[in-house]
Amino acid sequence: MKEFGTAKLLIAALLVIILGVSVFLIMSGAFGQDVTILKPEGPGKHAAEPQNPEASPGALNDPSEQPPAFDPGSFEKYGLRVPAKEDADFNALFDGMSREEAENRNKTLAADVEAGNLFIINKKFPVGKTYKASDLAAIKYFAPDRAAETRFMRSEAAQAFNSMIEAAAADGYKIVMTTAYRSYDFQSILYTNYVKKYGQSEADTFSAKPGTSEHQGGLAADISASSVNYQLLQEFGETDEGRWIAENAHKFGFILRYPEGKTDVTGYIYEPWHVRYVGKTAASEIKRLGCTLEEYCNMNGIKNDAVSVKTKE
Ligand code: DAL
Ligand code: ZN
Repeated sequence: MKEFGTAKLLIAALLVIILGVSVFLIMSGAFGQDVTILKPEGPGKHAAEPQNPEASPGALNDPSEQPPAFDPGSFEKYGLRVPAKEDADFNALFDGMSREEAENRNKTLAADVEAGNLFIINKKFPVGKTYKASDLAAIKYFAPDRAAETRFMRSEAAQAFNSMIEAAAADGYKIVMTTAYRSYDFQSILYTNYVKKYGQSEADTFSAKPGTSEHQGGLAADISASSVNYQLLQEFGETDEGRWIAENAHKFGFILRYPEGKTDVTGYIYEPWHVRYVGKTAASEIKRLGCTLEEYCNMNGIKNDAVSVKTKE
């Protein structure tokens, strides 16, 4: 009995060993295929893993994989021009802008060009004797003792002007318009009187010959305040009202058309009283760049003078 019991124990132990070896072989996948021993390659086990080419840090060393250069979007489709990237004007206009902001800027500027808001009238680019915008609208705030026929601007400009004067009043500054739209004949009388009083060469520094005044375009206005007795004086620039205009006019789409130190470009002395509507995009950029309307139009390839654009005669 005892020998029989020992034999049973031996058989049982043998079975356990056979079972254990079988389980090990099945788990290690050794049945039915060749066993390959994986050795690590390179510096670590990740070197053997499949590579995602897009995630590969090595891709940035390939010049063809560099992020695309900033592109301000098409401007040509609006009939305008974006300065070349190597041009200093390019950085001046687009520095810090995203592609979306640049596209949006180009669209709003193009809309203002299309609306005629950047129309240039100057000594070089006159308009005809009978040129008159068809959408002149009344201005609400004016000096009552000045010619009633000049209390108009083109519709969009007139609304922006009224808003600007109301915003100044809300800040405590009373500003009024002295003359805005001036016909060829009105300008003719004005200019002739100045020539009689000051002589032609001096008159030409602050008064436009008829046909060359942008007042005739309906986008300009002269403004003043009681602190300078409603006169058009350079001292107006030093008054609270004049400072408010210089600081805030761009928010309403206006610029100071004849800035200090730009006589060689504009042909006129500093006129802190003469504001010109160009739309908010151009006005903000002209203020930021400290340039004139002529310089700004050159930067953007805007040919919007009476010679390039057919005007109503
Ligand atoms: N004062 C500006 C230049 C004009 O006469 O139109
Ligand atoms: Zn003026």
